[in-house]
Amino acid sequence: MEKLRIQGGHMLSGKVRVGGAKNAALPELAATLLTDEPVRLTNVPAVRDVATIIRLLEHLGVQIERDANGTHSRLCAFNGTEAPYDLVKTMRASFLVLGPLLVRTGRARVSLPGGCAIGARPVDQHLSALTQLGANLRVEKGYVIAEAQRLNGSEVTFSSPTVGGTEHLMLAASLAQGTTVLRNAACEPEVADLAILLNLMGARIEGAGSDTIEIRGVSELGGADHKILPDRIEAGTYLVAGALKGDRLEIANCRPAHLEAVINKVQEIGANIEPGDGSLCISASTDYRASNTRTEPHPGFPTDMQAQYMTLMTQAVGTATVTETIFENRFMHVPELNRMGADITIDGHSAIVRGPRQLGGARVMATDLRASASLVLAGLVAEGETIIDRLYHLDRGYESLVEKLGAAGAKVERFRE
Ligand code: UD1
Repeated sequence: MEKLRIQGGHMLSGKVRVGGAKNAALPELAATLLTDEPVRLTNVPAVRDVATIIRLLEHLGVQIERDANGTHSRLCAFNGTEAPYDLVKTMRASFLVLGPLLVRTGRARVSLPGGCAIGARPVDQHLSALTQLGANLRVEKGYVIAEAQRLNGSEVTFSSPTVGGTEHLMLAASLAQGTTVLRNAACEPEVADLAILLNLMGARIEGAGSDTIEIRGVSELGGADHKILPDRIEAGTYLVAGALKGDRLEIANCRPAHLEAVINKVQEIGANIEPGDGSLCISASTDYRASNTRTEPHPGFPTDMQAQYMTLMTQAVGTATVTETIFENRFMHVPELNRMGADITIDGHSAIVRGPRQLGGARVMATDLRASASLVLAGLVAEGETIIDRLYHLDRGYESLVEKLGAAGAKVERFRE
């Protein structure tokens, strides 16, 4: 199994280019099921989750070609309407094919994703909303079996904002009869980017990016050519890397407006960030003040940046309380950071970080995607060598991380043991 070795303490400078957003690429690739015409997506990140959804779409009958610029896909004919457990269990976003299969073929059999390391993550809101649009759903042997002649537009109010649920309903309602209104919808930039693609394909969606989205159903969708927005979590991760070890590190090809909560927080603790045109430049300081944060739906502080921020807080003077409100079990990086010399205790949904602490290199275990990123950041600032096991978590969402950090001056390599 591949591992990552980091020799800590090296400064980072030059330019790190941010890739396309994984969390937009996944629903947008699922949208290729909604048309027989070619869909061309550019700025598609080369990460493992994208490879997983491509495998699932190929299994369903979409032909996908990848080149250096992106993907060209075309649905020739449905090979089947089943998304098997093996492909859904490794990546929950696979569940998003249910709605498109249902509106195109009248039926779908998709494995329930089940829980994952960071929490139970049910899909009850996806299912109740699809039922409101007229889908006939039942669960049999771990699979959701869905049937409908045609979906009918409806008013859906989510009990709490769900990114995947909002995207799922946008995909399905685009080909429903009549108008669907989603209330208490997720406002994440990736939801808005999906609406841009769907509208290019001929959908009629308004309000995506706000908490109320109106989707007027159309009878068919066509092809489109769309560039995926930059990955705000990848940008945020490199911003924290720069706050820890940057010497004028430039984070290029990002949209600072999508990262406002993180930028404000990192500035508040004492970092100097120079915003540019689609870029951010940051240098490390030795004078950070601890500051509390709590994760919130967009535009609040993203849960996907919580672990990385915790690593930063180990270097700040004082005590910071980091509260997780989105997922119930997202502190698995805490024991690993403590093994590297951090002083963090967990109290319910909060982690209390006391700093500053000089971290020391250690052998640590990645437990999920963003937890892995927090360990990489800790390795960059630690004294000595850090070895991170279970690298596949990192590969799910970070494109060419070793190459990008290496080019900026980090001493980091992959190896097999
Ligand atoms: C997406 C992101 C993930 C991010 C998360 C929150 C993708 C591929 N993944 O995940 O990186 O961490 O948003 O910003 O875009 N919930 C329910 N019932 C449901 C759906 C969700 O209870 O039917 C709960 C979840 O368990 C979680 C919360 O709602 O506690 C938010 O989940 P959701 O926004 O749906 O996250 P994902 O779309 O899975």
